[in-house]
Amino acid sequence: MRVTCGTDIIEIYRIRESIEKLGEAFLNRVFTENEIKYCESKKKQKYQHYAARFAAKEAALKALSWKIEDKYSICWTDFEVNNNIQGRPALKIIGIDLKDIENIDVSISHCKDYAIATVTVLSK
Ligand SMILES: CC(C)(COP(=O)(O)OP(=O)(O)OC[C@H]1O[C@@H](n2cnc3c(N)ncnc32)[C@H](O)[C@@H]1OP(=O)(O)O)[C@@H](O)C(=O)NCCC(=O)NCCS
Repeated sequence: MRVTCGTDIIEIYRIRESIEKLGEAFLNRVFTENEIKYCESKKKQKYQHYAARFAAKEAALKALSWKIEDKYSICWTDFEVNNNIQGRPALKIIGIDLKDIENIDVSISHCKDYAIATVTVLSK
């Protein structure tokens, strides 16, 4: 068994600026349909939630980097954050086949200016 973790912090204004400047092209390149639906439901607070998901994807890449030979072979939308009914987030790997992963956990926090995420991976 091996446990690895990754963490990432991001300034929310950077994500807000990208969304305002690039609109759907940016949203669809970085976020899945489910993530967009979730963040848009947060109305005025949506940038915090988008930024948190961006941080979660970066954190996932860090936690999994030892398994990924070419990090540019990974798309942003290969990772998806979903929340259960209590709001607890989970990280799903969609487009890539990473072998021997037993479990992945993600934790997210955001405030007015920053969003942060930590991903922990348990592998065989
Ligand atoms: C869930 C909770 C911890 C979130 O904390 P917060 O300071 O309001 O907000 P944060 O920015 O730090 O965290 C928000 C993120 O928490 C995560 N979250 C929400 N519910 C969660 C849960 N049940 N378990 C784990 N993570 C959760 C989500 O990922 C959310 O971000 P997202 O909506 O973008 O996915 C808080 O709302 C809560 O319910 N606290 C309980 C308070 C309490 O009972 N205290 C007394 C005993 S300690």
